[in-house]
Amino acid sequence: MKAIILYDTRSSGGSTDRFVDALGKSLVETGAYVEKGKCRATADYSFLQDFDVVIMGAPVYYLLVSSELLGSFFQSNLKKYLRRKKIALFLTCGSPEPMATMMYLPQLKIHMVRNKILAEKVFAPQELSDIQAIDDFVRNITHSYRSAIRNRNSELVWIEDAQELLAQIPSFLRNRIKIATEEYAEEMGYGEITPTVIDEAKTEFE
Ligand SMILES: Cc1cc2nc3c(=O)[nH]c(=O)nc-3n(C[C@H](O)[C@H](O)[C@H](O)COP(=O)(O)O)c2cc1C
Repeated sequence: MKAIILYDTRSSGGSTDRFVDALGKSLVETGAYVEKGKCRATADYSFLQDFDVVIMGAPVYYLLVSSELLGSFFQSNLKKYLRRKKIALFLTCGSPEPMATMMYLPQLKIHMVRNKILAEKVFAPQELSDIQAIDDFVRNITHSYRSAIRNRNSELVWIEDAQELLAQIPSFLRNRIKIATEEYAEEMGYGEITPTVIDEAKTEFE
């Protein structure tokens, strides 16, 4: 697995910087190749093409996910290069977890509705240096990544409703749409093709 930790923080050498180093170390111990990079709202994110997994996160300041990461979704090509990427999300903040999950994680997730989210976690201040919490997060990422890859290599099943939809497509287009949908499903790590997957694939290729 080639992973990049893409993150932001306003405090150089602060809690998020130290957390990212510990996260990277834990990932490397699983055999992953890992790089880290700090977000800039106007950066060129084409380098993400080289990675299988993007692990993304930042602290919350004044109720908002740190601005260089949030701003990248609006001012750069980040969204374009995240298409079809497998993602893991983390936040570092002082709020209780349920509140942070409801208020802060959606600030990132709203830009990634079509991505496969392998794992997500809000890290409370005391968890940022907790090796066990970090290792658990890494285990969730690698476990979900491996199942996605396993699905990719196994035979795709078209469920009955999806087969019916496919049958309604004019015959001269049917095979092309079937192949494109299967490619999309494999890329996303889906084990079966449902009407929802067809819908997602359609949006993707429009
Ligand atoms: C100026 C400032 C504003 C903050 N605002 C929030 C906030 O609105 N909600 C929250 O849950 N945590 C807030 N926090 C807590 C930080 O998100 C948390 O301490 C984080 O680990 C800081 O990361 P850093 O050390 O990399 O800057 C704030 C911290 C600071 C310093």
